[in-house]
Formats: sequence, C-alpha cells, structure tokens
Amino acid sequence: MADVPDLALNNGQAIPQLGFGVFQIDPAETAAAVQQALEVGYRHIDTAEMYRNEKGVGEGIRQAGLDRSDVFVTSKLSNEAHRPDDARTAFDDTLSALGFDYVDLFLIHWPLPTRYDGDFVSTWQALEEFYRSGQARSIGVSNFQVPHLRRLAAETDIVPAVNQIEAHPYFTNEEVRAYGREHGILTEAWSPIAQGVVLDDPTITATAERVGKTPAQVTLRWHIQRGDIIFPKSTTPSRVKENFELFDFVLDDDDMAMISALDKGEDGRTGGHPDRVA
Ligand SMILES: NC(=O)c1ccc[n+]([C@@H]2O[C@H](COP(=O)([O-])OP(=O)(O)OC[C@H]3O[C@@H](n4cnc5c(N)ncnc54)[C@H](OP(=O)(O)O)[C@@H]3O)[C@@H](O)[C@H]2O)c1
Repeated sequence: MADVPDLALNNGQAIPQLGFGVFQIDPAETAAAVQQALEVGYRHIDTAEMYRNEKGVGEGIRQAGLDRSDVFVTSKLSNEAHRPDDARTAFDDTLSALGFDYVDLFLIHWPLPTRYDGDFVSTWQALEEFYRSGQARSIGVSNFQVPHLRRLAAETDIVPAVNQIEAHPYFTNEEVRAYGREHGILTEAWSPIAQGVVLDDPTITATAERVGKTPAQVTLRWHIQRGDIIFPKSTTPSRVKENFELFDFVLDDDDMAMISALDKGEDGRTGGHPDRVA
C-alpha cells in the first residue's frame, strides 16, 4: 500500500490528501470510529463545532497512542459564532474539547451572507488572529463562493489555505475550484461520494468493474487525481478500509473525462446553496 501523499498549503504546511470525516458520527461513537480509522492508517481527521464530536476526535487520537503531531486535525467555526468575540470563545472551546493546544486547520464553516449583516470579513480577521497566535497552524474557509473569496482578497491580509466545498461526480463545482487553483487555495471536496448517491451510476460501476476496484474507490480516486483533498465518512469497518485503498491503481484520461462528464451542475448539488444557507 502506497502512502497517502501530502499536499503543500500556501503557507508551507503539509496536509495529507486523504483523511477521515466525522460528520453525522454520534458523539458517543466518535472516539472509537477515529481510533479505528487511525489503525487503518488515516492521519487526517475532519470535524466541526457543529458536529458536536470534537471531544471524541481528541479521545480517539489519544487512545490510538499517537503523538499529536502525527495527525492533521481540522475543525470549523459554528454558524452561531461569527461575531469576533463569539468566534474567540468558540475557538477556545474547540481546543478544550479536542484537548489540544492547537489545530492544524480551522475553517469558517459557511459564509452566511444573509446573516450578521453579511459580514464574514470580521469573522475571517478573528481567524487571522488564531493563525498569528500559532493556535491554528493554517486557516481556511468552507462553502465560499467566488464573490465571497474575492471579498476576502480585497479586504483582508491572509489568503485562505483551503476552501472546503461540495464536490463529487454529479456536482463538480468547477468555477469555485478554478478560482482556488488560480489563487493558491486548495480545494477540499466534501461528500466526495455524494453520501453514496453516485455509487450506482453506470459509468462508475462499469469503470469499477474494468479496473477491479469498487465504485467508491473509483470515485475517490477521481478526486485524488483531480488534486483535491478528501475525507470520506464511514462507520462501517470494511468501508473505512476500502476508502483508504486508493493508491494502488490509476484512472486513465478517458476514465477521468467520463466521470467528470457526469456533472449535472446545480441539479447535482445535494447540500444547501452557500448563498442561502443561514
Ligand atoms: N464543510 C461542510 O459544509 C461539509 C458538509 C458535509 C460534509 N463535510 C465533511 O465531508 C465529510 C464527508 O462527507 P459526508 O459524510 O457528507 O459524505 P460521504 O463521505 O460522501 O458519504 C458518507 C456516506 O456514504 C457511506 N459510505 C462511505 N463509504 C462507502 C463505501 N465505500 N461504499 C458505500 N457507501 C459508503 C457512509 O455510510 P456508513 O457510514 O454507514 O458506512 C455514509 O452514509 C464529512 O464527514 C465532513 O467531514 C463537510
């Protein structure tokens, strides 16, 4: 089994391209799920304040007997804490829930342009403070559309290291990815298998059969070859292992193009539109 590649963030920090996501994992079951993923070999965990399971993430890492520096940990600011004072309190709470004195990456979870008088700029400036203090080794955003990113570029100092957005074969989200590529912002693709929706697609199942892999592995490999960062979620032990086995095969250019052509544009989006999520 080849190692998971590290990608370089725009501040020189390294991030493992494949991680383990814990959205919708019961807080009481998160420590065991994280420990299991770490045993399989994952070294990157994606959580959020709104998932209510940061405590389990910290416990899982400690139970696995790994050093803090062995695992890349991301969390995200709650939608309820965008005002800078609230953001500072929430960030402190994240560190105490995890039981760590830093996170590797901290994100604004949603831009919320219809809340807080449309002000995500002062929220970002609070994250810039967390970065300068060293308590967030990198900072980034999630669900930011191009106009949101342009506004940060015009009004703030630090370019986000990543933008974590919905992306999968039915919603390839090219415009936002292209902005990131042009401005040194890596794309993290959330719901990389669209929570399972794409796995019965005939193009994906036919490719899987031909290359001798599963539909999930083919879909996740497509993301890896696009250069995006992914962290599929599963609480099924066999799938946690399956989703990690992506580095012993390659999709050719035709496979990549056929899967990319499954894009349905906005019709393929499974989550809320970032302009409207409140
Ligand atoms: N920033 C954001 O707004 C945002 C939004 C959504 C997600 N995320 C992040 O992205 C991560 C991944 O997204 P996600 O959890 O929404 O969806 P996902 O990873 O695309 O899919 C997870 C679902 O697919 C199933 N599954 C996993 N591996 C499978 C396999 N090999 N074969 C068949 N089914 C499989 C899982 O079932 P079982 O668990 O039952 O195996 C679960 O129901 C999250 O955990 C979170 O960290 C971020």
